[in-house]
Amino acid sequence: MSQSLPSVIISGTGTYLPHRVVSNDDMAQIVETSDEWIRSRTGIAERRYASEKESTSYMATHAAKQAMKAAGTRTDEIDLLIVATMTPDMPFPSTACLVQSQLGLDHITAFDIQAACSGYIYALNTAANLLRSGAYNKALIIGAEKMSSILDFEDRTTCVLFGDGASAAVLECSEAMGLGILSSITGSDGSNPQLLYQPAGGSACPATTESVLARQHFIKMNGREIFKQAVRVMGQVSVDILERHGYSTDQVDLLIPHQANMRIIDSLAKRMRLPMERFHNNLEYYGNTSAASIGIALHEAHRSDRIRSGDLILLVAFGAGLTWGSTLIKWH
Ligand SMILES: CC(C)(COP(=O)(O)OP(=O)(O)OC[C@H]1O[C@@H](n2cnc3c(N)ncnc32)[C@H](O)[C@@H]1OP(=O)(O)O)[C@@H](O)C(=O)NCCC(=O)NCCS
Repeated sequence: MSQSLPSVIISGTGTYLPHRVVSNDDMAQIVETSDEWIRSRTGIAERRYASEKESTSYMATHAAKQAMKAAGTRTDEIDLLIVATMTPDMPFPSTACLVQSQLGLDHITAFDIQAACSGYIYALNTAANLLRSGAYNKALIIGAEKMSSILDFEDRTTCVLFGDGASAAVLECSEAMGLGILSSITGSDGSNPQLLYQPAGGSACPATTESVLARQHFIKMNGREIFKQAVRVMGQVSVDILERHGYSTDQVDLLIPHQANMRIIDSLAKRMRLPMERFHNNLEYYGNTSAASIGIALHEAHRSDRIRSGDLILLVAFGAGLTWGSTLIKWH
């Protein structure tokens, strides 16, 4: 990375989590499952479900307000807004435009990124590079998902895994040379989209009575294959970004992985030979919130003083697409 490019820091973070807590025992009332099965196979104890009024844009707007407050940023200073989501309020206009309006932001650049569970890192990377280019002054990035809107509550292999929520961050250039977002690596492989997808509702299979009756508007997943790929790819992309910046694994102060499955995170820790104390996990309470997950964990870690100036922080994600990404931050 060129040293002449300005530093970009995360100056504030925020989250929104719906109030409704759904425990594993609650899930067992809906599908044939048990608290024991879900905990032992995934590490999840409960998740949040949004109410009807809590759309993706609603949750995103609330997380954004909290992030701007934490950053001491006025709304009119934001000139770039990116929302990462796979559960937009509607196919178009973008959720970013809806959030822009709810925040009262006029005439800024607002768009969505669809990279499934890697969305937060894709948004962070895009915003950081656009700020470095000088095209914008302050960016708001948001990962927001209403996963409960695309869950099949007749499919126990998927519906127990996901939850709703939103996270946001304000990004801006800083004089603090060598600190901030060092860089990101993102990647994708679209050769096998059926590993994790929603078959209907797009142009390839528009909504019909048949598509609804065949439950094609819900998540379908090959869990075992996704599991294997997640461990391999997250391990590789973590090592790659550390090598790019000349760091070794044991120099990582905090690793925030996408919160999908505790066994995936355990395997990643073993592969990287990093003790679990260096990870921040909250999967137990929220399940997999897709594009929101890393931002929620980052916010919590920051709020609980787990992050100090100079700390080396590694974010790593994996999701449908397949997509993946890692971001290395030297906290300001
Ligand atoms: C989904 C996942 C938890 C399943 O765990 P697993 O150990 O691979 O379990 P299997 O799919 O082999 O299923 C084992 C058994 O449990 C059953 N089972 C599946 N879900 C169940 C549930 N919620 N409750 C009880 N039993 C369940 C299966 O039907 C199967 O039963 P069978 O042996 O009688 O056929 C695991 O594959 C996983 O987490 N994959 C990654 C998914 C992910 O993170 N996706 C998002 C990526 S961003």
